[in-house]
Amino acid sequence: MSSTQDERPKATAVPYQGKPLPNVPNDLVIPNVLSLDFDERLWVSQAPDIWFRPLVFSVSQGYFVNLLRVRKSGILSRHRHTGPVHNVNKVPVDGPCVLRTSFEDCGLNEDNFAHPLFLSMITVGMWDRFGELTSRARSFRLDSFLVFRKGATALISGAASGIGLATAHFCYSRGMNLVLLDVHEHSLLEATSQLPSTSEIRTSMFHLDVADAKAWKVLQQGISTMHPSGIDFLMLNAGCSVEPEAGKTVWQDPEYFSRTLAVNTLGYTNGIAALLDTMRNGTESKPRAIVLTGSKQGITNPPGNPAYNASKAAVKSIAEQLSYHLHSDHPEISVHLLVPGWTYTGFSAGRFPSKPDGAWAPEQVVEYMNRKMADGVFYIICPDNEVTEVLDRKRIVWSAGDIVYERPPLSRWRPDWKDTAAAEIKDKITL
Ligand SMILES: NC(=O)c1ccc[n+]([C@@H]2O[C@H](COP(=O)([O-])OP(=O)(O)OC[C@H]3O[C@@H](n4cnc5c(N)ncnc54)[C@H](O)[C@@H]3O)[C@@H](O)[C@H]2O)c1
Repeated sequence: MSSTQDERPKATAVPYQGKPLPNVPNDLVIPNVLSLDFDERLWVSQAPDIWFRPLVFSVSQGYFVNLLRVRKSGILSRHRHTGPVHNVNKVPVDGPCVLRTSFEDCGLNEDNFAHPLFLSMITVGMWDRFGELTSRARSFRLDSFLVFRKGATALISGAASGIGLATAHFCYSRGMNLVLLDVHEHSLLEATSQLPSTSEIRTSMFHLDVADAKAWKVLQQGISTMHPSGIDFLMLNAGCSVEPEAGKTVWQDPEYFSRTLAVNTLGYTNGIAALLDTMRNGTESKPRAIVLTGSKQGITNPPGNPAYNASKAAVKSIAEQLSYHLHSDHPEISVHLLVPGWTYTGFSAGRFPSKPDGAWAPEQVVEYMNRKMADGVFYIICPDNEVTEVLDRKRIVWSAGDIVYERPPLSRWRPDWKDTAAAEIKDKITL
C-alpha cells in the first residue's frame, strides 16, 4: 500500500488565527491526519489489517475521535454508535478498493445526515470495487438526524411563528417538503411565502385550528393525495396560553381550562389520530419521527397557569405512551418530547420588544432538538441562557421528591419550603 498525501496546501492547516471567540474552544489541528502512513507508531493494531489511531479523547464533553484504518476486503458488521459519526473515505492512489457504505441505500449521501441509531440497524460498511478511482478524500458528516433529509415530508403545527417556524426553515434548508399548519392565517401566508415551492420542494399550508378534529380529517385526505408515501416528520407543536375571562380567576372559568386543553392537548391527539397511519403505512423503512412540544411547566408544575401546566403534563404522558407503543412494532418511527427552555417567540414577543438575554432564539431550540434526536434522546430538555441542563435536572429531581418524600405539592415555591428547596437544589442534589 503506498503512502497517501494530504493534498491541501499546508498553509490552510492552521488553527483559527483571529481574535478569541466567546465560548469557542481553541482549534485542534493534527497535521497529516489523513496521511495514513505518516507515522506507524500512532496506529494501534486491533486485528490483522485493522488499526485504530486515537485522535481526541474529550473528558469534558464525553466523546472520542478515532481513525479506523482497514486494509483488507470484507464486510464490516452491523454495529451501534452512541454518538455522532464522522465518516471520511480516503481512497488510496493506487489501491483497488474504496470504502462503500450502504448509507446510500437508506437515502444518505454527502448532502444528507444520518442517525447513529439508525446506522446501527443497517450494514454500515462494505468494501467493494469501484470503476473509477480518485485520490481525493470524500468526507461527510453523520451527526444529524436522518429524518431531516432531502425529499422527506415534514408536517408542522403552529408553523407560522416561533419554534414551529424555525423548524420549518430548518427542514426547508435540508430539502424537505413542507406541510405548514396554523390558526393564524395572515402569519401562515407570510411564513409560506418565505419557504416557496421549488422544482424539488413542495410547500403547502393549511389554515386550521388544531382543536378541530374534523379539520384534521379533511387535512388527512389532502395529505394522502399530495404525499402518498406519508409524513416522515410530524411535529405537533401548536400551543397557546389562555387568560381567564375578565373578572374571573382561573378556578372560576371552565372555558379557560377547556380551550387550553383543546388546543394544547387534544390538538396533539387529533394530529396523531389523523396522521399516525400515514407514517406507519409508509412502504419504505426510512426513519420517521414524531416530535411533541411539551413544556417544563408540564414537568415541574410552577404555580400560575394550571390549565397550561396540566395540558403540557398530558402531552408528556401521551408522548411517553406513543413512544412505548411504537418502539417495538415501528422502530423506524422515533418519538421525542421537545421541552423548550425560555425561548423568545410569539409567546413572549408581547412582553419583550426584543430577545431578552436570558432567552434562547427558536433556531437554538431547533438545533438542540436535531442534535438530541440524532443521539436517540426522547426527553429533549432544552437549556436557555439562564438555566443550565444540570439545573433543570436538579429541579426535576426535586419535583419528583415531593411525591417520594411526602412533601406538599409545588414545595419549590411554597413559603415554608422554598429556602430548603433552593439550598438543596444548589448544593445537595447530586446527579
Ligand atoms: N416560547 C417558550 O418559551 C416555550 C417554552 C416551552 C414550551 N413552549 C411551547 O412551544 C410551542 C410553540 O410555541 P412558540 O413558543 O413557538 O410560540 P408562538 O406563539 O411563536 O407559536 C405558536 C404557534 O401556534 C399557533 N397556534 C396557536 N393556537 C393554535 C391552534 N388552535 N391551531 C393551530 N395553530 C395554533 C400560533 O398561531 C403560533 O403561530 C407551544 O406548544 C408552546 O407551548 C414554548
